[in-house]
Amino acid sequence: MKMVEISNGVYSLRVNHFNRKLFDALIPLPDGTSYNAYLLMGTKHTVLLDTADPEKKDLFLDYLKDINKIDFVVAHHAEQDHSGLIPVVLDKYPQCKVLTNEKCADLLKTHLHIKDDRIVLIKDGEKMDIGGKTLEFVFIPWVHWPETFATYLHEDRILFPCDFFGSHLATDEVYSTPEMVYEPMKRYYAEIMMPFSANIKSNLEKISKFEIKTICPSHGPIHNNVNFPIDCYKKWSFGELENKVSVLYVSMHNSTYMMVDRLISKLNDYGVMVEKLNLEDADLGRVAMSLVDSKTVVIATPTVLGGPHPKAIYAAYLFSLLRPRTKNLAVMFSYGWGGKTVEFLSGVLSNSKAELIGQVGIKGMPNDDAYKLIDTLAREISEKHLKVGAANK
Ligand code: FEO
Repeated sequence: MKMVEISNGVYSLRVNHFNRKLFDALIPLPDGTSYNAYLLMGTKHTVLLDTADPEKKDLFLDYLKDINKIDFVVAHHAEQDHSGLIPVVLDKYPQCKVLTNEKCADLLKTHLHIKDDRIVLIKDGEKMDIGGKTLEFVFIPWVHWPETFATYLHEDRILFPCDFFGSHLATDEVYSTPEMVYEPMKRYYAEIMMPFSANIKSNLEKISKFEIKTICPSHGPIHNNVNFPIDCYKKWSFGELENKVSVLYVSMHNSTYMMVDRLISKLNDYGVMVEKLNLEDADLGRVAMSLVDSKTVVIATPTVLGGPHPKAIYAAYLFSLLRPRTKNLAVMFSYGWGGKTVEFLSGVLSNSKAELIGQVGIKGMPNDDAYKLIDTLAREISEKHLKVGAANK
């Protein structure tokens, strides 16, 4: 494969994974993904930034077939989709050293068995002259591992932020457009970045000192319209939440569905947007994306063997793990003769900072009295949504 020169002596080595089905064996990838490495040719040193997932070893090595010398490989992040081929690079280039920080070095030693004598440690803010090109290393921890850092290339005004601003998109287009990248970037953000929104805010502040012309992430296309991904990240990590309710539901004999239908109808009457996701066959990436900007989440489930349907428990656990900024939570459930649905879900959701503002349990098929309870829940949700300024602080 041929490297793409994106600036003088700066090359993109993108490996597309068009048919990858899941990321982290969890989130579906309707548009595939990519693993992006970059090669910097200074007059003194040749530097490789990251590698690719070992599953794509042959494609990655094809990029390097005519490269006779690599002095350093920068490991921004120890996760194997970027670091996994570092041992192969070290074998191919015996003089090559890994440039990384202390935390990442520790992970590379334990996960990839890289030896100490192949590692050179860098510090936050340290600069390196590779001959006509000045690299500055900037630690941006918890996007999404504790060791991650970025490299800023001063002369070319390029930021290489690793996973930060990445998108799950396999494409041969070198540069992103907002239309192309919005959904794949949000899908990426929802699973990988959302649990760390506070860290994202501080890391956005940290990189704001640089004049950035181009962002070269480690997944998806390159951004030369840099305001678009930065503004998306600002909105998703600390911007105003939408006047939106995510309704995550599963129904067995239609009672729960009837409750959901009534709630949505009333919420719409109050001018509240709703994203309805049937957990029976929902794309978990779509569920995660919905959580990014919803002010309220409602989980609706039938009672199965005394508790919530397993798919509802799964959704609640995902919610708990992804830590969305959702302000309000509500539970609706149907039952035949009893059960501990709310107790189960409350346990799974106990780490959430969202307020449990309502729980509606209906025996059997909903009747007029049941609908009144649901209407009350819809009104309470809409009232919470009207308090926009307070709800977003
Ligand atoms: Fe793309 Fe966290 O690795």
